[in-house]
Amino acid sequence: MCGIFAYIGQQNAYDVLIKGLKRLEYRGYDSAGIALLNKGLNLYKTKGKVTDLEDLMKDKNKEGNVGIAHTRWATHGEPNDANAHPHYSLSKKLAIIHNGIIENYASLREELVKRGFVFRSDTDTEVLIHLIEDIQISEKVDLVEAVQIALNEVIGAYAIVILNKDNPNELIAAKKGSPLVVGLGKDEYFFASDATPIVEYTQNVVYLEEEEIAIVNIKEGLKIKTTKNKDKTPYVQKLEMSLQALEKGGYEHFMLKEIYEQPRSIRDSMRGRLNIEGGIVSLGGIIDYEQKFLSANRIIIIACGTSWHAALVGEYLFEDLARIPVEVEYASEFIYRNPVIYENDVVIAISQSGETADTLAAIELAKSKGATIIGICNVVGSSIARAVHAGSYTHAGPEIGVASTKAFTAQVTILTLMALMIAQKKGTISKSRFYQIINELNVIPAKVEKTLKASEKVKAIAEIFQDSRNFLYLGRGYNFPVALEGALKLKEISYIHAEGYPAAEMKHGPIALIDEQMPIVVVATKKGTYEKIISNIQEIKARKGIIIAIITEGDKRVKDIADYIIEIPDTDEVLTPLVATIPLQLLSYYVAVMRGCNVDQPRNLAKSVTVE
Ligand code: AGP
Repeated sequence: MCGIFAYIGQQNAYDVLIKGLKRLEYRGYDSAGIALLNKGLNLYKTKGKVTDLEDLMKDKNKEGNVGIAHTRWATHGEPNDANAHPHYSLSKKLAIIHNGIIENYASLREELVKRGFVFRSDTDTEVLIHLIEDIQISEKVDLVEAVQIALNEVIGAYAIVILNKDNPNELIAAKKGSPLVVGLGKDEYFFASDATPIVEYTQNVVYLEEEEIAIVNIKEGLKIKTTKNKDKTPYVQKLEMSLQALEKGGYEHFMLKEIYEQPRSIRDSMRGRLNIEGGIVSLGGIIDYEQKFLSANRIIIIACGTSWHAALVGEYLFEDLARIPVEVEYASEFIYRNPVIYENDVVIAISQSGETADTLAAIELAKSKGATIIGICNVVGSSIARAVHAGSYTHAGPEIGVASTKAFTAQVTILTLMALMIAQKKGTISKSRFYQIINELNVIPAKVEKTLKASEKVKAIAEIFQDSRNFLYLGRGYNFPVALEGALKLKEISYIHAEGYPAAEMKHGPIALIDEQMPIVVVATKKGTYEKIISNIQEIKARKGIIIAIITEGDKRVKDIADYIIEIPDTDEVLTPLVATIPLQLLSYYVAVMRGCNVDQPRNLAKSVTVE
């Protein structure tokens, strides 16, 4: 979703900003723009990519040490040059970049129009900068005070940075509902939606809290106030992100790199939490909340997209191992359907980015009802990580590809550890079963590594099916969420229609779709409902569907019926998703590459969905 980057310091702002915008590209966007303060406050913006902005800037004055830049993912108004950020105020003395949505923009705009304001775009953002300037002039206050007054009038979410022609030494930023990080370098400062464009300059950052305003003056440093004018002391944190993690490292795409990183990211997510010799699973971040789990009548897991699929695996794990009833909710539905939430509910919120607006809103709702909120996030210091009572980070490292891969397996790893930890404390798992699972968990990274070796085989299958118009993905038990995730990956990056279904549900409807053109990916590992899934495969074959089966190494029965097979190493049923997901990620990746799709930045998609 939209990316903010702003700079003030000693370097050439244009160079720093363009580099930063490129780092933010992974968030997803459809236009880009920049404002520089040199001979005046100059603003350049265009529909398209950052490279289009660079083309536009070829013959322009790129001097100056202060500027703001933006990648826009359209919400209000189509993606065109006019709607791209930054936006000028009426006098063109101020320029703003904004992430989030000003919900009452229509009424504010109407009011401003009546008072003679002329709008150059359809955006809610332009309303905000006009409002700020209007307050500044009519109430004769300085810019900070005008920002405070304006932000108290708007309803909605914002992360903003404002550049003021009359004060080239200063940038003003504010945040509510959308993330904003301030980077503190030596005689230079950065503002960004996330730390990725900052890390190459400084490790010292301040994450702005809700309704905080940051004023950076190159001579006086950083000051933080609230929108209610309370002074705050900046809390400086050290970034742990490495620059290397933000590069492709020789891979053609970030997605492929991230698929291949999974043996390591799963291992990193278990590190220090799984003690095989001692027979202990311990997630330090939730130890103090163990009792809440033990006395919970139920667990509610809230998430969106791929994280929601991980949540489904969590449902199977917690019910199976810890015998706690689980409800899995789409965060967006949860918020608006008046859900019943009890004080002794444990709500687990899962989010890679930690910035998903729907999930954040669901957390706030559950919190207001007194439930205990546990987070599973990948991005350290993210809004969700800060909003929950306690939680465990996945240690997948930055995920740049829009299609989530390593974050999913890391989330499932944490859920497995969590369910095991609670099951052990609750006494719902026998010692031998506990050891069986943890020993197998310990070798999962090696099994994922082995599964990745099937890549050439998967590629050959992708070649055959690259022009298919539809796909069906089927699985049962622990493999049902795997099927859903496989289908989501394919549609996200290759734009082929794909549906995931519980295999047994097929006969209640989707079976009508099956003909000799329809590829059906069946996750048919030799565990749990193996016999049943063989029957489902027979039903498909009887209707001439084409079966691509993910099977357990050496399994002859499915091999004999399926048209194509991909073998994966045998593992414990509860851990199957960690391995079975891998070939499905590879399949979608290769199909998308063969179709010439933009794998890392698929059309219309955003990496962190910061609007509801
Ligand atoms: C996954 O491939 C998607 N891009 C998307 O479904 C994503 O999982 C979803 O938007 C939730 O994001 P989060 O994990 O950052 O909250």
